[in-house]
Amino acid sequence: VSTSALVPVVESVRWSPDRRAVRIVDQRRLPAEFIERDLATTDEVCDAIRTLAVRGAPAIGICGAMGLVVAAARANAATRDALSGFIGDSAARIAATRPTGVNLAWALDRVQRAAAGSAGDPGDVVEAMRREATAILDEDRAMCRRIGVNGVVLLSDGVRVLTHCNAGALATGGIGTALAPLYVGAERGLRIQALVDETRPLLQGSRLTAWELARAGIPTTVITDSTAGALMQRRDVDLCLVGADRVAANGDVANKIGTYPLAVLARHHGIPFYVAIPTSTLDPDTPSGESIRIEERDPLEVLEAGGVRVAAEGVSARNPAFDVTPAELVSAIITDTGIHWPPFDFAHGV
Ligand code: MRU
Repeated sequence: VSTSALVPVVESVRWSPDRRAVRIVDQRRLPAEFIERDLATTDEVCDAIRTLAVRGAPAIGICGAMGLVVAAARANAATRDALSGFIGDSAARIAATRPTGVNLAWALDRVQRAAAGSAGDPGDVVEAMRREATAILDEDRAMCRRIGVNGVVLLSDGVRVLTHCNAGALATGGIGTALAPLYVGAERGLRIQALVDETRPLLQGSRLTAWELARAGIPTTVITDSTAGALMQRRDVDLCLVGADRVAANGDVANKIGTYPLAVLARHHGIPFYVAIPTSTLDPDTPSGESIRIEERDPLEVLEAGGVRVAAEGVSARNPAFDVTPAELVSAIITDTGIHWPPFDFAHGV
């Protein structure tokens, strides 16, 4: 089967038909409702990213880049100076929404460079930005496919793969990162069983990963996050495969909270722990995980479930959105350029 035929089960972020807005699938509403939303202003883009209407490091980067373009187009700036002032302010606001994933800052930087490098009037500048944002989307789609092709060799027929959060089509411009090898494997006729951590507190696993895998026809079992250890102990997990929001130069991996304990469990049980990322998630400028800023989210996300208070009154909560898995617990990092084995050294990219 040619993997070039693989299309994502869902397009989570793209241009609206007139390209004056960014069209996203509202991930807050899945799986109950499939609703698409158009974002056209800096405020709308920031709000969508902050509230996880659009989420997953690559998708956030794409949305931020495209959002900057549509906001700039609507700014109707009369001069290049006015436009570049608007772009700088807008990019800073979008970048501040979610600090842990490197893709957002990286994508905004690319679009800003395209703007700075364009000669001509404000209309030309916006066109150059639009081309760059489109390239970011297209490149992400291609990188996802290559991650799938590179990673599928780690899967065998009947393999039981445990994943955490959502690193699939919903989180990217293409077929995903951690889920890409599963999609390519299924396309090639491998029987794959997905085990999906529900991923407290916002349930990206049970709401999103399970939804898109089921839509693709891949047998999927949802487990509570705390069940992973027991299943590994029973030899019911063959390997773990997760995405990442930022990978430091030494191979330390920032990913959804709960990834680190999974890696510790996998090591204890002798189960491979793989991380799949596009090269846009590599951050050679960050030497190790220690310097990765971890986003802290609203404690109410922990104290409530589906908007209903479940924790006793009068208590507080901690809600870091991500954790850092030390490189020593990572068996391999799958990227669009190949499979990288320890010891990792990404100080000069891949
Ligand atoms: O808070 P989220 O849902 O944006 O967190 C997403 C993750 O942690 C993903 O695993 C990561 O962004 C990789 S997505 C290809």
